[in-house]
Amino acid sequence: MRKLLATTAMTLAILGGAAQAAEVEVLHWWTSGGEAAALDVLKKKLESQGVTWKDMPVAGGGGEAAMTALRARVTSGNPPTAVQGLGFDIQDWAKQGALGDLNAVASKEGWDKTIPEALQKFAKYDGKWISAPVNVHSTNWIWINKAQLDKAGGKIPATWDDLVKVLDAMKANGITPLAHGGQAWQEATIFDGVVLSLGADFYKAAFIDLDPKALGGDKMIEAFTRMAKLRTYVDKDFSGRDWNLASAMVIEGKGGMQMMGDWAKGEFLKAGKKPGADFVCIRFPGTQGAVTFNSDQFMMFKVGADKQAAQLTMASDIESPEFQSAFNVVKGSVPARTDVPDTAFDDCGKKGIADLADAAKNGKLFGSMAHGHAAPAAIKNAVYDVVTRQFNGELDPKAAAKALADAVAAAKG
Ligand code: GAL
Repeated sequence: MRKLLATTAMTLAILGGAAQAAEVEVLHWWTSGGEAAALDVLKKKLESQGVTWKDMPVAGGGGEAAMTALRARVTSGNPPTAVQGLGFDIQDWAKQGALGDLNAVASKEGWDKTIPEALQKFAKYDGKWISAPVNVHSTNWIWINKAQLDKAGGKIPATWDDLVKVLDAMKANGITPLAHGGQAWQEATIFDGVVLSLGADFYKAAFIDLDPKALGGDKMIEAFTRMAKLRTYVDKDFSGRDWNLASAMVIEGKGGMQMMGDWAKGEFLKAGKKPGADFVCIRFPGTQGAVTFNSDQFMMFKVGADKQAAQLTMASDIESPEFQSAFNVVKGSVPARTDVPDTAFDDCGKKGIADLADAAKNGKLFGSMAHGHAAPAAIKNAVYDVVTRQFNGELDPKAAAKALADAVAAAKG
């Protein structure tokens, strides 16, 4: 009898544990309208399987504030179940032994075959899957208000000079040509496109190989000269503005264009706008054929045995082809698997999928410096610092190129 009671108590405890375990606590920075709509797709999917979603949003595009919040949680020995993470940050957490092991799900579902190598580099550590890639974004995009483009002559800019002409025409039409939020990560996002516009080889030399000659040379001076030119097209209130408010300016036609990753498309869609009719998506002129990417992933932290089942369910849900399509259609990104049909995607999404495949095939797919996929955080932050100081007029282009080479050298240690 005593044994029976003990067994029953144990079963109840396990069941109780399991009930409690059917919860995922998720730390992320997806707080804008478009981002929240996309996240909802995941939330609903989990909830339909009886998994409760405990939300831990930390606002701030690019995720700097979220990463600070995460450090505090891990230090106190209480990490969330899953955390939005980018590139080198994921590997850093893996190195510290903080992440779990998704191999059981990954091998059952054949992730090795369907998730591209460029993402595996960040999602695996020591032969183990430690994080679940959700999407692939890219940063070398421009989002243009269609009516304002038409008023500015209607020509889609294909070169830097074309771009300057359109920006000048928009200025003459009395709107803010470049809708921008003055935050370091947003300036760095524009800088990805500007550096890439001076050549795929140059981007690689400067940001992937961290070659001091490329970082401090003539082409980099030219890149900063372009940034100084772009600075002349922002409004006087740009400082500190959130990226989604800059998107709203373009949506409303108060701004002509925004240079931003394709999460901006999520804002246009959320506002009911249609690609082609209301807005136009183009690659940053001069970067056609090349892609600077960042992939949002959910890093799965080491959690107690009671929470692991829900964690694995979440990982499996994320990689299902149906979810990959449904989520990315809303988010503005493209699938993290190569076998998801593009049928449900709009023209910008279809272009994003095709561009990614072409760039990968032609050796022109590079990690985004601004979003943690080109170099580790110390180097990324050094780049942020110089780019934002120059954008705010503290450095001329020549001094900025020298400062960039020096700052990266110092960060490399
Ligand atoms: C990026 C992230 C995107 C988007 C953006 C703005 O770092 O990869 O998914 O959320 O920040 O918040």
